[in-house]
Parts: sequence; structure tokens; C-alpha cells
Amino acid sequence: MKLKIRALLCALSAVFLLMLSACGKVPEGNAANGERWFRMNRCNGCHGEKGTGGKAPVIAGTSLSYTRFLKQLRNPNSAIMPTFESKQVSDQDAADIYMWLQQQKK
Ligand code: HEC
Repeated sequence: MKLKIRALLCALSAVFLLMLSACGKVPEGNAANGERWFRMNRCNGCHGEKGTGGKAPVIAGTSLSYTRFLKQLRNPNSAIMPTFESKQVSDQDAADIYMWLQQQKK
């Protein structure tokens, strides 16, 4: 009986740890692809070729978390920046762009 409780507790904490590690997880990004998606989606038209600004804020080396970055795409709440739905820019594409931006100098 005691053994069963321990096994149960172990299983529960394993599940808990899994949930914890899934929180705020940033998908692995591919910077080379990110640069392509950045151009393809015309981010460069507003944010500059390397994200260093133009008509829109500098986002090269952004200090935003990936979660905030993604939120900006999905719900920019802006009169200027269009919304990018996941069918246009998937979470993975966004992670690629994010990774590439991290590597650009401000
Ligand atoms: C039509 C112009 C335009 C396009 C296209 C555009 N943005 Fe923006 N973006 C803006 C403007 C303007 C802001 C500043 C917020 C505002 O004015 O509402 C902004 C804000 C942002 C921010 C937040 C910056 C910060 O530090 O708070 C991020 C991140 C961002 N854009 C990423 C992107 C990405 C990635 C793309 C392409 C998928 C993109 N934007 C396409 C105009 C644009």
C-alpha cells in the first residue's frame, strides 16, 4: 500500500515537472529561416532590413520575451502594424524570426 502511494506521488511530480518545463518554452528557432520570413512577411518594410528601424521601432536584438513578441504578432493592437495570424506566420516561423532578430545588432 505504502509503495503504491509513493509510485503515485512520483508519477504526480513527474507530470508536474513536465507541465512546469512546458511553461514559457521558446521553440527552437532557425535564424537563417527567420531572415527569410522577416522579408517574406514584409516586416523589413516597416522595421528596416535588419530590424534596425525605419517607420517602426527598432526590433533588432529585442529585449521582449518570445511570449511578448508572439503576442505582438497575433494581437499588435496598433493602427499601423497588421495582425499576423498563425496561418501566415506559424509559432515556429515566429520563433525563427525571433532567433534571427536576437542576432542582429541594435
Ligand atoms: C506596416 C508596418 C509594419 C509591419 C509590416 C510590421 N510592423 Fe511591427 N510594428 C510596427 C509599428 C508601427 C510598431 C510600433 C507599435 C505601434 O505603433 O502600434 C510595431 C511594433 C512591433 C514590435 C514591438 C516592438 C516593441 O519593442 O515593443 C514587434 C516585436 C514587431 N513590431 C515585430 C514585427 C514583425 C516580426 C513583423 C513581420 C512579421 C512586423 N512587425 C511587421 C509596424 C509594422
